[in-house]
Parts: sequence; C-alpha cells; structure tokens
Amino acid sequence: MKPANSVLSSYGTTVFEVMSRLAQEHGSINLGQGFPDGNGPDDVVTAASAYLHDGINQYPSMMGIPELREAVATHAKRFYDLDFDWPGEIMITSGGTEALASALFGLIEPGDEVVLIEPLYDCYLPIVRRAGGVPKLVRLEPPSWRLPRQALTDAFSDNTKLILFNSPMNPCAKVFTRDELEFIAALALKHDAYVVCDEVYEHLAFDGRPHIPMITLPGMRDLAVRVQSAGKIFSLTGWKIGMVSAAPELLTPIAKAHQFLTFTTPPNLQAAVAYGLGKDDAYFDALNGDMRARRDRLGAGLADIGFDVIPCEGTYFITTDFRPLGFNGTDEEFCRHITIEAGVTAVPVSAFYQGGGIDHFARFAFCKEDASLIEALRRLKAHFGS
Ligand SMILES: Cc1ncc(COP(=O)(O)O)c(C=O)c1O
Repeated sequence: MKPANSVLSSYGTTVFEVMSRLAQEHGSINLGQGFPDGNGPDDVVTAASAYLHDGINQYPSMMGIPELREAVATHAKRFYDLDFDWPGEIMITSGGTEALASALFGLIEPGDEVVLIEPLYDCYLPIVRRAGGVPKLVRLEPPSWRLPRQALTDAFSDNTKLILFNSPMNPCAKVFTRDELEFIAALALKHDAYVVCDEVYEHLAFDGRPHIPMITLPGMRDLAVRVQSAGKIFSLTGWKIGMVSAAPELLTPIAKAHQFLTFTTPPNLQAAVAYGLGKDDAYFDALNGDMRARRDRLGAGLADIGFDVIPCEGTYFITTDFRPLGFNGTDEEFCRHITIEAGVTAVPVSAFYQGGGIDHFARFAFCKEDASLIEALRRLKAHFGS
C-alpha cells in the first residue's frame, strides 16, 4: 500500500477522545472534553426543529443563508460597534474548526511562516502543516500565561504570512488585554502579516473583562480574520456552525477553501442561529453569569481539595497544578489516575504543547451541570482524603 498523507498520518487520536473513552470505560465524570451539559436554549432548538419541517432542506448558499450573515453583522455592531458589509465580509462554515481550516488553507502558501501561540488548540498545528505552513511557536507558560514579547518579536520575520491565536484562550483561560492585542497588531503591521483570531469564547470572558476582537484595533480591519462558533454562544457544540468575518480581499480566498471543503452548512441550524443571535442582553448576560458561577464552584472546590488553581479569566476551563496533592507522576499519568481511581476525568495540559517541559498541570471543564461538578468534587475529595 502507498502511504497516506504523512502530515496527518503522523498524528494519533486526540487526547480528548482518548480521555473520553477512558472516562466511559470507568464510569468517570468527564470534565475533560469541553462540551456543556444540557440541550441549549429551548427557543433556539425549537427554531431549528421548526425550520426542518417548514424551511428549505436543500443546499443553501455557499456563503451561508443571508439571514444568518446579516445577523452576524448585527451582532458585531451590537457588541463591538463593528460595521461589516455582510454580503462581502461574512461567511458561515461548519463550525469554528472549519472556519479556521478555510482561513488557513485559503491564506497560507507552502513555505509561509505561521506564528502560533502555545498552548495550542489541537487542530491548529495539523492544519497549518497540511497547508504547507512553517510553524513558528511561541509559548505561554503556567501559572502566569504572560505574553513573551521578545520571543514573539523574534518569531516574526518578513516571511510571516500570519499569526493564529485564540482569545479567550483554551486551555489556559487567558483573555488577552488591549495592550497585548496592540503588541501583536504592531508586529502584524510591521511584517504585513494577517491575524487569524479564534474568538469562539467571545461571550465567556469573565468578571467584567472585555473581549476585544482583534479586528477592532487600528490597522487591523484589513488584516484580521475573526472566527466565531455558535456552538459556544448557544451551548450547542454539536451544531458546528461557525462564522468568519473579514475584509473582502481576505474573505474571498477563504471562501474558496470553504467551497471545496464543505461547500455549505445545514440551513435549519443556520436559521436557528440567526434567530438566537437576536436574543436580548439577558440571554448573553445569563450565559456569562452562569458559566462564571460554575467556574467559581469548581475552582473553589479544587482549591479546597489542595490543587493549585490558576486564575481563570474566560472559556470553559480551569487549569490546576496537582503537585500539592503529592502526586509525582506526569500530567498524563495524573489524568489516567483520577479517571480510573477517583472517577473524574481531566485532560493533561502537556497535550497542548509540542516541545515538552509542561507536565504537572491538568485542565478541568466546568461547563457541566451543578450536580456533576458537586459529585466530581466529592469523588476527588474522597480520593485525595483532604
Ligand atoms: C479554541 C477553540 N477553537 C475552536 C473550537 C471549535 O469550534 P467548533 O466546535 O465550532 O468547531 C473549539 C472547541 O472546543 C475551541 O476550544
């Protein structure tokens, strides 16, 4: 047999899949994978189901249904005072992941350098490499997750095609400040590089911290690509509706990639997301307040058991240092250990790094029912005997 594509074949099964399978095998509470419990907002789900019966069930427009593209523009104006001309600047994809893949395949030419910030969401590097990009990695490290400005400056060159980063950032729960975004924007401007910003957790920046879309910064309107996910906005991660917003010169090549990857996205779900984006402020406030309360519950409980809990500024995730519990193995060993012995699953933070060196942090997802969080904490407490 001839070998398959060497870049993609070099990757194993993702750590999320491995840990989820192990959790299932052992009847463990899965705080590893970041999908919310529950079934999302009732009215949004009802809108999707009504549209299945009454709407169009054939291929919708390649760029997305007009109602949703317009709703994305209205949402951007409402929350960030951004003006998008939706027919030329907004496209709907099958999830944030496809939005990112389309952006990377559409913009990267083989040999282009691509700056990435570790810890990395799992699909970034394989897609960049498959697109022929040459990754230049810069790492944030726990517990401060401080932006290493010199390393970032050094990672840029005249061969840099783009930087891809994520704010609020999975798994480290960092929300980039305006100052940090300005620093990145200045490098992008200096090197004439694009900025692909994964903003899927935009409504999950906590404690009054603003989420600032990169594209709102001076000079970034024509260089930045904004990526969103309805899965995170409506706690419906299985829907896989993503959105890309960018200047027409950027969106055009990105749309070419989308055209040949998935071409389009289920119209009933698009219609329901269009409806959902119009929900009142109370919905968005409750989403944020509810997740913040879960964060506080899980964070306080883990600290009480003896974990070092790193402050969480946004997303679904809390990172913890487990060494104070007396566990001396690696983070992978720790996550397997608590899955099998305590009945609670987390994921090792080392999985988000390429080069090693980070091996004693575990990530817990708090986007779960209170009952699951309470039971998970009870089990961990019983196991570690604190
Ligand atoms: C940082 C980040 N980007 C993108 C995605 C994928 O979004 P979607 O499910 O819409 O493809 C996720 C999902 O967990 C994520 O955490």
